[in-house]
Amino acid sequence: MNKITLKVIQGSLTGKTYHFEERATCVIGRALDCNILLPDDQAHSTISRYHCLLDISPPELCIRDFGSLNGTYVNGEKIGQRDIACDLNKAKQMIYPEYDLQHNDCFKLGESIFQVAIEKEETPEINQLNNNLNNEQGTQKITTSQSVDPLDKINLLLGKADDDNNDELIAIKGYNIVSELGKGSMGAVYLAKKEDDDKQIALKVMLPKVESDPKARGQFIRETKNTKLLDHNNIVRVYDIGCYDDTFFFTTDYCEAGTLSSLIKQSGGKLPLFEALKLLLQILSGLEFAHTVPIPVIVLANGKKTSATGLVHRDLKPGNIMLTKVNGELCVKIADFGLAKAFDVAGLSGRTATGVSAGTPFYMPRQQVINFKFAKPEVDIWAAAATFYKMVTGKHPRKYTKESDPWLTTLKSPVIPIRSYEPSIPEVLAEIIDQALVDQPEIYYKSAAQFKEDLLKVI
Ligand SMILES: Nc1ncnc2c1ncn2[C@@H]1O[C@H](COP(=O)(O)OP(=O)(O)OP(=O)(O)O)[C@@H](O)[C@H]1O
Ligand SMILES: [Mg+2]
Repeated sequence: MNKITLKVIQGSLTGKTYHFEERATCVIGRALDCNILLPDDQAHSTISRYHCLLDISPPELCIRDFGSLNGTYVNGEKIGQRDIACDLNKAKQMIYPEYDLQHNDCFKLGESIFQVAIEKEETPEINQLNNNLNNEQGTQKITTSQSVDPLDKINLLLGKADDDNNDELIAIKGYNIVSELGKGSMGAVYLAKKEDDDKQIALKVMLPKVESDPKARGQFIRETKNTKLLDHNNIVRVYDIGCYDDTFFFTTDYCEAGTLSSLIKQSGGKLPLFEALKLLLQILSGLEFAHTVPIPVIVLANGKKTSATGLVHRDLKPGNIMLTKVNGELCVKIADFGLAKAFDVAGLSGRTATGVSAGTPFYMPRQQVINFKFAKPEVDIWAAAATFYKMVTGKHPRKYTKESDPWLTTLKSPVIPIRSYEPSIPEVLAEIIDQALVDQPEIYYKSAAQFKEDLLKVI
């Protein structure tokens, strides 16, 4: 297993160690909710409340300064510090530079120095495969999602599905790609049609950001199998899940009316209040179901079996809320349930949780920024409320600016009461939405059913 250990080698916490074996984010500072909390005393007065962020994906990790007052130093070099005098254009260029940390690197905040130790697991299967490929085809290596076109991959697999009568590809046998529905950070989604009965499906192709090994692939498939239990009108139905070489694929319902984010854009940036409410109630129905669905068997990485209740999405946002039309009415279908978590747990996401390429935490509560692994149902409920906020105001609940790191903004900035942007929202309703967006010290609503019930009382 890949491991990262941080050891404090100078300062009052000297000797303390922090271990990471899984994907994590880690905020270091003096604010009480930091994962690595430095004492709020005179000796640490040069450390900011939220000083810097570590983005950890063993064996890789990177650090970025949060624009702290006194800066963060890596191996003696300053990597970031707030510059009050710096002009706006310069500040824009300076936004969130990240620094990769290597084994034995040291970073310093105030008087505290942390030393990094990285233990890297050798993956013989991949090395062997690379050697074979190198021998056969010169310098070719196992490729990752950055360098491969998902369409080439899926066409290759569709060809193989026909040729080989391959059991692993039976789910996509007989399908042809009709068009590309869209691309995301991990791959792409295609409309596919079955030759014999014209059945239409969405075929989602995910390519890992990092070299995958059989263990990671197994873990991902195990994690995602549970998504097949999500048989609910407001959740995209997953039919089959497969993996071939380093390509993961899913066959799901095709949602012909597109995403909620496109609908908002097409409607000029906002939706009428009543329409937004109807969509929110459907999102909450989907969440209520997923969060309480009994999961009969979970096979753990060590082979042991257990059971559990509920799946959490962890990446709910207008772009992951698909729509269909039923009798002229829009019907919500939540897509990608559990995928974000499964990819992370299996170590396939690469280091993208907070990176510049990771998108933005607009729909994430503070808890998810502080600790990326925080995956309780309430993060989805907060995200549903943030999605409603976007639908009716055209804005995000927190005010993000180009000059400030969005991850830091999520930690430091308050949620703006919804009526400040949209005074036409009835007060009783606004109160519930503002309540649903409380995330300090904890997220207010713990159950989608309760949020829905409160909404139904006032509309
Ligand atoms: N079931 C579906 N039916 C129709 N279109 C879909 C379906 N699933 C996804 N799409 C389209 O494909 C696009 C890409 O989806 P994908 O899940 O790969 O990325 P994303 O959700 O936009 O971004 P991210 O990588 O951050 O999750 C979506 O934005 C949507 O337009
Ligand atoms: Mg998606």
